[in-house]
Amino acid sequence: MVAAGPLRSVTVLGATGSVGLNTIDLLRRNRDRFRVEALTAHRNTAGLAGLAREFGARFVAVGDESCYGDLRQELAGTGIEVGGGPQALADAAARPAEWVMSAITGAAGLAPTLAAIERGAMVALANKEALVCAGAIVMAACARSGSILLPVDSEHNAIHQVFDFKNPERVERLILTASGGPFRNRSRQDMAAATPEQALAHPNWSMGAKISIDSATMMNKGLELIEASHLFPVPEPRIEIVVHPESVIHSMVAYIDGSVLAQLGSPDMRTPIAYTLAWPDRMAGPSAKLDFVQQKSLSFESPDEQRFSALRVARDALRAGRAAPTVLNAANEVAVRGFLDRRIGFLDIVAIVEETLERLVGHSADSLEEVHAVDDEARSTAESLMMAAA
Ligand SMILES: NC(=O)c1ccc[n+]([C@@H]2O[C@H](COP(=O)([O-])OP(=O)(O)OC[C@H]3O[C@@H](n4cnc5c(N)ncnc54)[C@H](OP(=O)(O)O)[C@@H]3O)[C@@H](O)[C@H]2O)c1
Repeated sequence: MVAAGPLRSVTVLGATGSVGLNTIDLLRRNRDRFRVEALTAHRNTAGLAGLAREFGARFVAVGDESCYGDLRQELAGTGIEVGGGPQALADAAARPAEWVMSAITGAAGLAPTLAAIERGAMVALANKEALVCAGAIVMAACARSGSILLPVDSEHNAIHQVFDFKNPERVERLILTASGGPFRNRSRQDMAAATPEQALAHPNWSMGAKISIDSATMMNKGLELIEASHLFPVPEPRIEIVVHPESVIHSMVAYIDGSVLAQLGSPDMRTPIAYTLAWPDRMAGPSAKLDFVQQKSLSFESPDEQRFSALRVARDALRAGRAAPTVLNAANEVAVRGFLDRRIGFLDIVAIVEETLERLVGHSADSLEEVHAVDDEARSTAESLMMAAA
């Protein structure tokens, strides 16, 4: 239970996805503590309508405008307001909920996330792509509005729990842990032949398709490196990545006196989500309790940038700055979709991202307009490279 207090109103963007449904699970277990203002999905009208009815949401929206009619029909007579299209997602985020879960996949989550931030909401951020493609813009909007950004990604959530925000000069480095994904021990040759089914089979976490493929290429850790550089006042050379296959330590902060603080937990997204949902309190969570005796050992290894070149490509993009992270994110979204649709091979994903970055050097992404323009250009470049690779 959340400590006694007024009902917290919440909005869940991406309610029908993996993070969205983990959030819904916590809301279901704490019905007396939360009221649902708005819920969104992309195309899953049946799932969204079911959740809207169950929680008595005031507003629901689908990102795909062509699904608006179906959603309206599903909710006819309920009095629940319905919207469709990208603007309706931003409208959902702009409604007066105290807490907003940003769990749309990809750059499509940027505008709704900004709409929540701009009105000063407390934003639980799962949508790492928003920070990767427009980190400076998102953080500046937070500073302007006073919006509190609470990271949901288990690594950044872990760091948030142990980071000394009052004395950041005491922090020596951040250590992001990585499971290594399903291909941790595979050769490049094996990976070249990997199918979407193999790449989707994450050893520790159950997640949506896009982040699962990102975990297999380890681009996910590259995106998280960029995300961490925006969330915490620690420069890139002092953000380290360590492979930790058990996914028990979710990340660590090393201090100048040699102390290292870590957050641990079973690999269950409901723990970091509960941290944000109850913040600044704590609430009881349903995830399996850690049993250290059963666990026996925790292991660590260096990431292999030869086999997982996404780590190098993402770090280089962060160092290059300007529009490089925006290009990286957009090209990666296109290439991951292409792999899932069996248009390209597994190793082509990062090759296409790298080639797109090479072709679009020197762009800037200082304003939202520039971010959109670069994002569009990177998508069409990646698409044409994909056609050439197919
Ligand atoms: N899954 C995890 O454990 C995890 C952990 C850390 C961070 N994250 C991050 O959280 C975000 C969501 O991941 P997920 O695994 O929950 O993804 P997911 O299972 O694929 O769910 C995505 C959600 O966003 C909606 N959506 C997708 N594309 C959209 C679009 N273009 N416009 C509007 N809505 C759209 C989907 O609606 P439909 O259902 O209608 O398609 C669904 O509700 C990602 O940024 C991911 O990197 C996830």
